[in-house]
Amino acid sequence: MSNAAAPATEGSDRSDAPAHVAIIMDGNGRWAAARGLPRAEGHRRGVDALRRVVRASHELGIRYLTIFSFSSENWSRPASEIGDLFGLLRRFIRNDLASLHRDGVKVRIIGEREGLESDICALLNEAEELTRDNTRLTLVVAFNYGSRQEIAKAAQKLAREVGEGRRNPDTIDAETLGANLDAPDIPDPDLIIRTSGEQRLSNFLMWQAAYSELVFVPIHWPDFDKAALEGAIAEFARRERRFGGLVAKTAS
Ligand code: FPP
Repeated sequence: MSNAAAPATEGSDRSDAPAHVAIIMDGNGRWAAARGLPRAEGHRRGVDALRRVVRASHELGIRYLTIFSFSSENWSRPASEIGDLFGLLRRFIRNDLASLHRDGVKVRIIGEREGLESDICALLNEAEELTRDNTRLTLVVAFNYGSRQEIAKAAQKLAREVGEGRRNPDTIDAETLGANLDAPDIPDPDLIIRTSGEQRLSNFLMWQAAYSELVFVPIHWPDFDKAALEGAIAEFARRERRFGGLVAKTAS
């Protein structure tokens, strides 16, 4: 992800939508516990919320939507819950890929693929391959993703180039490192939303979030909908973005 911002889609509900919205979909477990349901049901309803938000993102003219679907640290959860989350990703791709493709959604995956089961890797590749030429909305799925790991991997790649004599260390700057992250062609998020009231990044897009506006909403992810997204965008629109300078830049 780079610093370049893309314009909002023509003909959308609104023109002040941020180009890139990233979401930490938190609170599935608490949503389920509050209803006496198993955590898996919270995650399942979380996928319903994701479908709503992808649709709303089209309608609102958002160009890039990044979702935190499974973090590098989620491996510390019980095996049964990890199995549930992997099962949901499998089902999401199998059931929703055709309609995402029909709707012009380009799917991109960031995160570590090494060590994932081969059928999951095949599904992730299939989703990216099938939708590679779509242009309406890019859905970036952060799966087995951790920002520190992503930055470390980029540093390792550059160090290898130096070690092999293919790169002068003086050429390594913020731009070079950014260009070696998982999706350097995707602009940095303008707005990062975290649901369920927690106020932290939890190893999500920490490099790319340098100048993102952060909006924390109290509702749990399974209850998130278009109105909640519009509320977060309205909050974003009230922010003054100066990117380290003195003069406010336009919202997106
Ligand atoms: C955080 O809620 C959510 C997750 C760790 C996973 C998010 C996954 C989904 C919404 C479904 C799977 C996504 C795809 C693309 C199929 P939590 O479990 O930490 O909730 P809690 O903090 O209330 O326990």
